[in-house]
Amino acid sequence: MTETGVIRPDPAAPPGDSPILRRLRTALALSATGHWLAAGALTAAAGVLARDDAPMDRAASVGLVLALLLVPAVLLPPVTRLTVRLDRRTVLVAADLVRVVLLVSVPLVDALPWTAAAAFLVGVAALPWAPTVARPVPAPVAVVPTRAADPAAEAAENARRSMLRTAVGAAPVAAALFAVLALVADAVAGAATRADLVLYVAAALFLASAVAVVLLGDLPRDTEALPAPLALLFRGGSAAGIAVAGAGLAGGAVAALALVTAASYGAGDAGYASVLAGLSIGACAGVFQGPRALAAFSRARLLGLAVLAAALLLAVLALVHDLVVVAFLAGFLGVAAGTAWAAARTLVPERTGHLRSAALVAALVAAAALPPLAGAVGVHRLTVGDGAYDLTGAQVALLVAAVLAALAGYVALRRLDDRRGVPFFRDLGAALRGERYTPHAAEPPRPRRAAERGVFIAFEGGEGAGKTTQARLAAIWLRDHGYDVVTTHEPGATKIGMRLRAMLLDRETTGLSPRAETLLYAADRADHVANVIRPAMRRGAIVVSDRYVDSSLAYQGYGRREPVADIARLNDWATTGLLPDLTILLEVQPEAGLRRLPAPADRIESEPAEFHERVRDGFRALAEADPDRYLVLDAGRPQNELSREIQDRIREILPDPVPVSAEEVTGSFPAITE
Ligand code: TYD
Repeated sequence: MTETGVIRPDPAAPPGDSPILRRLRTALALSATGHWLAAGALTAAAGVLARDDAPMDRAASVGLVLALLLVPAVLLPPVTRLTVRLDRRTVLVAADLVRVVLLVSVPLVDALPWTAAAAFLVGVAALPWAPTVARPVPAPVAVVPTRAADPAAEAAENARRSMLRTAVGAAPVAAALFAVLALVADAVAGAATRADLVLYVAAALFLASAVAVVLLGDLPRDTEALPAPLALLFRGGSAAGIAVAGAGLAGGAVAALALVTAASYGAGDAGYASVLAGLSIGACAGVFQGPRALAAFSRARLLGLAVLAAALLLAVLALVHDLVVVAFLAGFLGVAAGTAWAAARTLVPERTGHLRSAALVAALVAAAALPPLAGAVGVHRLTVGDGAYDLTGAQVALLVAAVLAALAGYVALRRLDDRRGVPFFRDLGAALRGERYTPHAAEPPRPRRAAERGVFIAFEGGEGAGKTTQARLAAIWLRDHGYDVVTTHEPGATKIGMRLRAMLLDRETTGLSPRAETLLYAADRADHVANVIRPAMRRGAIVVSDRYVDSSLAYQGYGRREPVADIARLNDWATTGLLPDLTILLEVQPEAGLRRLPAPADRIESEPAEFHERVRDGFRALAEADPDRYLVLDAGRPQNELSREIQDRIREILPDPVPVSAEEVTGSFPAITE
């Protein structure tokens, strides 16, 4: 097999296009149109075969056939692991020819069970095309992320997008063709005609696609098997997935019940086809133009809004009694569902697989569950005053789907809203005028005054890092600049704290369990926050604390190997969520630090060297996880340098910046050099 010509550049073509890709796209256009047409024709055939039964059995038969068409896409994509290993051209030709045989056999056998089985097999035979649609040309070997534009990657992406557009864009074409063919069949053979003509035309399209693939020339083998949608569904569950499932449910409900809805207005397959055409044209418009909709509006809000709109349109569609209106409503519903898809993809582009699974599974659920529900409900005559209104099972089923879709939209809006506090409708109104709504735009931002809230700075580090000295120097420097400064420390800054400190650090304390130790430090901290830190901050003071929460995370979490997340949660509760505005971490080699300490060592200092190593690693990990809130310094550097860097960093967070000119004078204060 050769790969010659696969991505041969063509100066007139967009990047990634090539003669062979264009021919591949033609084959796909034929095959995909055939597939969408087959979906309509097989469901219509099921409707015809069940026609002698009660009308609601027809709904169930149509739902069954639609569900069986979708099941392979949900359950069987792992099959493509086998087919991608074979010669791609042979596989694609076989996939098309199998469908030719299946579609031709349906009118010949003329029985509902075979129609259902054929629908399932048509769904299976569609699978081998999917990897080719997803990756029509070999992916570039390595995409270097730092390079702004990688032509090979761009070409592959363009090729993929053009294939996807072809596959999706075939749906409205097929639906329109279905409508025309159904009208022709009605005219030629009467209203009771079968969907035979449509089935034969779909078969002819598959045959044409097979011929196009044969004429294609060699295709490269570089395609990947499809991931299993169910696995993706449960991986990375998200509110965006819930929203897309709501949109899929609404769209699936219309598709699954369109035939019986059309039939209840006395319209035949042409009526059914026009509802499908409305839905698919709308969906394509939504998917491709959706990203441009309400450009100034938050994508998260757009997603929720689109799903709620789809739900509302579905409810209205369920209640109107006019097929033309239904077809138009289906079109608008398609736009809303397609827009939801586009918005969700913009929100979580890395989870496209998950989103696709959510939509697919929801559509399958709609096809499998709603028609039997419609059948079970039956027709109910409601008398309102003098008038009577027939409520059909299909209407009830559509309303149920509308309620579920509305719930999904609501949940997504609540969970994803990224503009909380901004009134939704004003935001939407501004977006409709092409503006971004900014609340209180006229009011200037209120300056943060020192008196409103103080500043909290913590010094952290292992034993002998010199943080006590640096904390004191920083406090002196701040006081010199006129700030109200409270210096404090842990453990033992309060009366109760002093007793806890004695228990914690006394070497006589033996057998204290790590959890009890953690709780005692947390108790000391709770008392410290409530009685020292918070009151000082309310006053607007600057609090400088020698050790705080990070000491518990590093010593009890990393050092004693207790779960760090649990300790963080416990301390969050103990401190009512108070975190330092800045944490200064002085890093020191444990050996060097411990050597600096005067004897005798306390209970924690006498822990083995490995314990102190883990504590150092713990502090480092905490600082790396939130670099904006930390200043990490090597404690081995000269004291003046450290002080100067600490002052520079503290100046950034002070309510009223200390002018550097003032600094020149106070930097030489005798107190600061101690
Ligand atoms: P301390 O005498 O204040 O020493 P240092 O100058 O090192 O701060 O002792 C406090 C000891 O308590 C120290 O070894 C670290 C330990 N500690 C914890 O294990 N967990 C904590 O939450 C805190 C605040 C301290």
